Amino acid sequence: MSTNAEIIRASYAAFARGDIDAAMELFSPAIEWTHPHGMNDHGLGGTKKGREQVRDFMTRARPPFSELRPTPHEFVESGDRVMVIGAYHTRVAHSEQTHRVPFVHSWRLADGKATHFEDYHDTAGIRTPPGTNEAGMTPREQILRLGLGFWNAKALLVAVELGVFTELAVQPLDAETLRAKLGLHDRSARDFFDALVALRLLDRENGLYRNTPASAAVLDESDSEQYLGDLLKFMNNLSYPSWGNLKPALQTGLPQNHAGDDKSELFDVLYAEPEPLRKFLQAMASGAMGAIHALAERFPWEKYSSVADVGCAKGALLSRVLRRHPHLSGVGLDLPPVGPIFAETAEQFGLVDRMKFMAGSFFTDPLPSADVIVLGHVLHDWDLTTKRMLLEKAHKALPDGGTVVIYEFLIDDDRRHNTLGLLMNLQMLLVSSGGFDYTGADCIGWLSDAGFRDCYVEHLWGPESMVIGTK
Ligand SMILES: C[S@@+](CC[C@H](N)C(=O)[O-])C[C@H]1O[C@@H](n2cnc3c(N)ncnc32)[C@H](O)[C@@H]1O
Repeated sequence: MSTNAEIIRASYAAFARGDIDAAMELFSPAIEWTHPHGMNDHGLGGTKKGREQVRDFMTRARPPFSELRPTPHEFVESGDRVMVIGAYHTRVAHSEQTHRVPFVHSWRLADGKATHFEDYHDTAGIRTPPGTNEAGMTPREQILRLGLGFWNAKALLVAVELGVFTELAVQPLDAETLRAKLGLHDRSARDFFDALVALRLLDRENGLYRNTPASAAVLDESDSEQYLGDLLKFMNNLSYPSWGNLKPALQTGLPQNHAGDDKSELFDVLYAEPEPLRKFLQAMASGAMGAIHALAERFPWEKYSSVADVGCAKGALLSRVLRRHPHLSGVGLDLPPVGPIFAETAEQFGLVDRMKFMAGSFFTDPLPSADVIVLGHVLHDWDLTTKRMLLEKAHKALPDGGTVVIYEFLIDDDRRHNTLGLLMNLQMLLVSSGGFDYTGADCIGWLSDAGFRDCYVEHLWGPESMVIGTK
């Protein structure tokens, strides 16, 4: 009978011969197979369960190497465990340079079969071979992926439009059932679903497609608190066509919105019809929810008793903040057509007594007074003169000790890291006549000029931060 160390030695020999079937024979059908999360960039990190997943992983894994060969040097056996000390020998695909990355592999066995495998190594050596970026990509791959990134975006946006993730939130489905439910032609449905698997938006197991944890978290329409799909649908319909005109926008400095003229403000275009208005307000709520939840939790609301949300849209912020902090009352200022949709939110949250709407325009009306004034995703819609005017009006409307809170996809002060903030700036070029995004330092400068003191920036979530100033 073979010892545990001999069984494991035989599995390395089988891999070295490329005989995956022979290696699989040495594994328990329920084997757990774990690589460090630092290998996620190549889809290699985390735990696989069962022979099929391990086999799938071995055939699918495609690091940026023409060769990634584990060579065991020493086998240390103790009870049901075998520790293997060795090194990966790698060859970088584009340069043919070779490298050595030491590893320790921990194996556990039961009844002559491997039940657990865990890989320990310094992932930096695997992730960033010389001549590649931090994701392990060669310049050719990096630029190609970026240049064709709109393929990824469009596959996601169309999947959201079609309701793929909402359908799969109900139950996992095979390709044919999913195709029929979505009303797709059979020519490319399977390719579409498998592309979504490669994009890690879907998982596929035993022929059944299901949502990944990420798509389940934010793309299931039945979870209205987390659903990001309304923003993505809006971007697909309004923003995607505009981005086709980025070049003339950059050359002329003029917006490229749906109105067909280059002078109308976004809001004139959207608010002309009830349906686009409703979709826009829903999209804003969907996009703002990350910031709203963070703000509801992290801002010291206990110090204040009233809040005014300027450019409040359908009332997403007020409804969440007032629900979370029952001592607060709130007022939302927005253009008159927004009123009925705001009222629906107040009704839906049982907040009609505490959450009021003020119909008006911040160009012609004073801002409502309250202890806290919030300007969320509002300043970036406008040029610098309007930004300063709004901050001055906020200062006037606040009592001494009152606070203004501004949240945006704030650009980092060095203007090089927050990609979404910098690209949002181009989005503003495309849809507004003077809007632009800005850094925390920019905003603190304008706040100080308007008379605010003790100004600071605090990160909210992902790409978003808030700027706070006190009167
Ligand atoms: C980009 S949305 C931001 C909505 C929300 N605060 C958020 O965080 O998503 C800008 C809001 O400003 C409102 N707005 C535009 N012009 C306005 C004006 N002149 N007076 C008051 N509100 C206005 C729009 O109706 C819209 O609800």
